[in-house]
Amino acid sequence: MKSRVLQVITGIAILFVLIQFIPVDRSVPSTEADKDFLNIHKPNHEMAMLVINACYDCHSYKTNYPWYSKVAPVSWWMQGHVEEGRENMNFSLWGNYTTDRADHKLEEAIDMIEQEEMPLPAYVWAHSGAQIDQKERKKLINWIASLRTYHEE
Ligand code: HEC
Repeated sequence: MKSRVLQVITGIAILFVLIQFIPVDRSVPSTEADKDFLNIHKPNHEMAMLVINACYDCHSYKTNYPWYSKVAPVSWWMQGHVEEGRENMNFSLWGNYTTDRADHKLEEAIDMIEQEEMPLPAYVWAHSGAQIDQKERKKLINWIASLRTYHEE
């Protein structure tokens, strides 16, 4: 019985080592700095840090990978979110967005932050650096709202 348990544990350990060799593509295309959301809107340092820490990992090409996000299977899960996040909204390509598109994304961003759907809760749980408190949420929402082209009453 004991040796059976040992076999299973050894099997899992070997599998864990082996999956580390499955390549994960973290390459990004080269981008122009003047297309970057923060370079375009130039917020103060506090706001820039909030956006970078809470959103840029998944919504830009400037992803900062914490060490554990490079360990499989977490790495697969993380890269999946990064790619899906960039597809939805990419702050590194902000300068390519039309006025309408940019405004719509800002509107969605405000909703997401308000409803606490962004930054992704599962990610914040694993990565406390992305955590934003209620005050920061408000500040971020106010700043993003100030960037909108169209204002609803
Ligand atoms: C861990 C990765 C991750 C982080 C961090 C993150 N997002 Fe996202 N975001 C996603 C993914 C994945 C999607 C697409 C799936 C979804 O909507 O849940 C998404 C979608 C969105 C969308 C589009 C929603 C739609 O309906 O099209 C907006 C807007 C958004 N995020 C804003 C933000 C903002 C603002 C922040 C920072 C406060 C942020 N996100 C942080 C992963 C992330």
